[in-house]
Amino acid sequence: MRLTDTSDLWWKTAVFYNLDVKTYLDADGDGVGDLRGLAQRLDHLAELGVTCLWLAPFYPSPQRDNGYDIEDYYGVDPRYGSLGDMVEVLRTAHDRGMRVIVDLVVNHTSDRHPWFQEARTSPDSRYRHFYQWRDEVPDDAPASMFPDVEDGVWFFDETAGQYYKHSFYRHQPDLATAHPEVREEIAKAIGFWLELGIDGFRVDAVPFLIDGDDGPEHEFLRELRGYVSRRSGHAMMLGEVNLPYDEQMRFFGDADGDELTMQFDFVANQRLYLALARQDAAPLRDALASRPEIARGNQWGNFVRNHDELTLDQLTDAEREEVFAAFAPEKGQRIHGRGITRRLPSMLEGDPRRIRLVYSLMFSLPGAPVLYYGEEIGMGENPAIEGSRAAVRTPMQWTGDADAGFSTADDLIADIVPGGFGPGHVNVAQQRHDPDSMLRFVQNLVRHYRASPEIGWGEFGILDQPHTCVLAHAVTSELGMFIAAHNFAPDGRTFRLEIEGADAADWRVVNLLDDAAGAETLVDGGFEVSLDGYGHRWWRVIRPGERRIA
Ligand code: NOJ
Repeated sequence: MRLTDTSDLWWKTAVFYNLDVKTYLDADGDGVGDLRGLAQRLDHLAELGVTCLWLAPFYPSPQRDNGYDIEDYYGVDPRYGSLGDMVEVLRTAHDRGMRVIVDLVVNHTSDRHPWFQEARTSPDSRYRHFYQWRDEVPDDAPASMFPDVEDGVWFFDETAGQYYKHSFYRHQPDLATAHPEVREEIAKAIGFWLELGIDGFRVDAVPFLIDGDDGPEHEFLRELRGYVSRRSGHAMMLGEVNLPYDEQMRFFGDADGDELTMQFDFVANQRLYLALARQDAAPLRDALASRPEIARGNQWGNFVRNHDELTLDQLTDAEREEVFAAFAPEKGQRIHGRGITRRLPSMLEGDPRRIRLVYSLMFSLPGAPVLYYGEEIGMGENPAIEGSRAAVRTPMQWTGDADAGFSTADDLIADIVPGGFGPGHVNVAQQRHDPDSMLRFVQNLVRHYRASPEIGWGEFGILDQPHTCVLAHAVTSELGMFIAAHNFAPDGRTFRLEIEGADAADWRVVNLLDDAAGAETLVDGGFEVSLDGYGHRWWRVIRPGERRIA
C-alpha cells in the first residue's frame, strides 16, 4: 500500500451521500428545495463525516421521471438556482473536505430535449441519427423496465412517422450512443462538469447505455473512463449495473479495471433483505462468498436503500414473495412486480436493534458505503403515496415542525411523511441532542469506518462459527485487521471466533463500537463472542507490533 493510494484512489474509502436538491432544504420559500438551501446544510453532512456527495439530477427537466428526463445537459433547473449557486455549493463542499459527484444520464434524454424535438421533424434532420428509429417494432424487442406503465420499448411518433426506442418511459427516447457525434456530445457534457469542479459521476443505467455486451460497446465505456481520467486525474465513475456478479465484472473492465471505477452491489443488497426476512444470515453470506475479486482501483458501493424501488429482481419468484410477505404485505407497498416502495425503518417496524444491525453491516462490508438522505435519522416513507417510487422521495426532516423545517411555503414539491415516521418523531434537530439517537449512531459508524481503511482496501473472509443466523467476517490488509459479527435472529448467540495466525500471546482485539464494553481482550488463537438478539459488534485486531488505536 503506497502513501499516494489513499488520496489518489479516494473512492476506496469514501462515505457517499445521495440527495436530491429539490427535497433537501428550501431557502427561498417557494416550496422547492434549492442549492442555497443545500449550501446551508453542508455542515450537517461534514459533521456526519460524509466525504462525497452524490447529487441527483438537478438539470432542466420536465420532471416526468424525477429529473432523470433531462432537457439540457449544461444547466441547472431555475427552481433550484443557477450555475453560480452550483459553483458555490461545490466550492463550499470542497472547503469542508467533501467531493461532489453528479448523475450522468445519457442513455436517454427527455423528449423535450431540443435534439429530439429537432430529430422528429424530418428524416433529414441533422439530429435524426441521435436517436434510434425503426419502421417496424423489431421481433426481438426486450420487455420494458416499467412493464406496468409501458407496453414495450418502441413507441410510434406521429410527427416522425417512425418508432423510436425508449428503454424506460416513452418520454425518454434512447440516444444512439453508437454514433460518433452522440459520443462527442456526451464527452462535451462530461468535460463541462469536470471543468466546473465536479469530482465524478454516478452513471445511470449503464447496461442500457452501452446497449449490448459485445466488444465495441465496452470499448465506449473504456473510452469514457479514459477521457474522464485525462480531463481530471482524480475523477471517478460510479455505475448503476443491476446484474449478477459475473456480468458486472465486464463493466469494471474485468481484471484491467479500466471501465467503471465503482459499481453498486445490487446482489448483496437484495440478498440482505432475504436474510432479514428469514432471520438467517445465509443468503447474504453465500452472496458475499461469491463476490468476485475486483481490480485494485475498483470498488463496490454498498447500500441499504436508494431513491428507486427496492428492487428484488435478482431473487427467485419464491424468494421475492418471502421478502414481500415480510416487508411489503400490502399491494400499495410494491411496484413493477419486483420492488418495494418503503424505506428500511418502516419495513422493520422501527425496531432500533434491527435497523442498527443493517447499517452496521453496510459500513463493515468491504467497499464504500452509500447513504440515501434521511437514512442517518431513520426516515420512513410516505405510505399515502401508494405504488410509487415517490413514497421515498419526501422532504428531508430537519425539525419537529409540521413543515419539517424544510420550507415555509404552503405548497411543497412533495408531501411530508405523516404519522410515526413524520418530523414530530424523526428529525435532525432532536437527534443532534440525543446521544442515543440514530444520527449519533450513524455518525459513530462513519467515524469508525473512516478510521479503518482496511474495510475499503482489505480482503474479505468469512469466519467460521456454528450459527447460521450469524455473519462473522474479517477484512484484512497490511493496514490492519477488522472483524465484525452480526446476528440476524431475535435471540442471543455465544460462540468462539478463531483468528488465523493469532496464536501468539500478544494479539489483542479491541471492541470498537460499544464504548461501555470497550475493553481489550487477549487473544489466544481466538476469542469468545456474545451477541444479543439482532446484535452487532466490531473489533480491531491489534497484531504484534501494530500501533493502532480504537
Ligand atoms: C435509473 C434511475 O435510478 C431511475 O430513477 C430512473 O427512472 C431510470 N434510471 C431511468 O433514468
